[in-house]
Amino acid sequence: MRVGVLTISDRAARGERADASGPLLARIIEGRGWQVSARAIVSDEEGEIVNTLCTWADEDRADVILTTGGTGFSGRDRAPEATLRVVDRLAPGLAEAMRAASLQKTPHAMLSRAVAGLRGKVLILNFPGSPRAAKENLEVILPVLPHAVQLLRGDPDAEAGHRFAPGHAQI
Ligand code: MTE
Repeated sequence: MRVGVLTISDRAARGERADASGPLLARIIEGRGWQVSARAIVSDEEGEIVNTLCTWADEDRADVILTTGGTGFSGRDRAPEATLRVVDRLAPGLAEAMRAASLQKTPHAMLSRAVAGLRGKVLILNFPGSPRAAKENLEVILPVLPHAVQLLRGDPDAEAGHRFAPGHAQI
């Protein structure tokens, strides 16, 4: 599985703040034995986010793209809007699961406007910007990522993934 990690932050893009959440997400992905196939930091400019997502998805640089930052309520937060511009199908269950699990940790989870969707065969997922929040959200969806990618690729083994879904009895 190839995963792109995109940090969205004006200050990190200007070099005024170190990017902590991008490297953390990348380490978790690599820890699972998956490949971090693309990494970048962009500003909160919607057009810049759109361009990067389209390039990575359309040039087949990743099966999954994780974005971190820009999901909140501040005036410049545009990650969900940029993502909604590029996806052709929504995958709301992933964002719902992340918010539901995060609400067990903090009521501030309600303030993340993160979305998830598909551009062709590529899954795009938003995470909040703080390293802790990004990690907590990634951990929620990690167990289903391999099966999601199998389904998107049209992998003939995808059926087995249904039967052995984590935490569920074999049907
Ligand atoms: N989700 C989890 N799991 N843990 C957190 O600490 N922080 C919240 C929320 N989601 C948080 C979380 C906060 S404080 C905000 S403002 C929103 O994510 C949006 O974050 P962003 O603006 O950095 O994208």
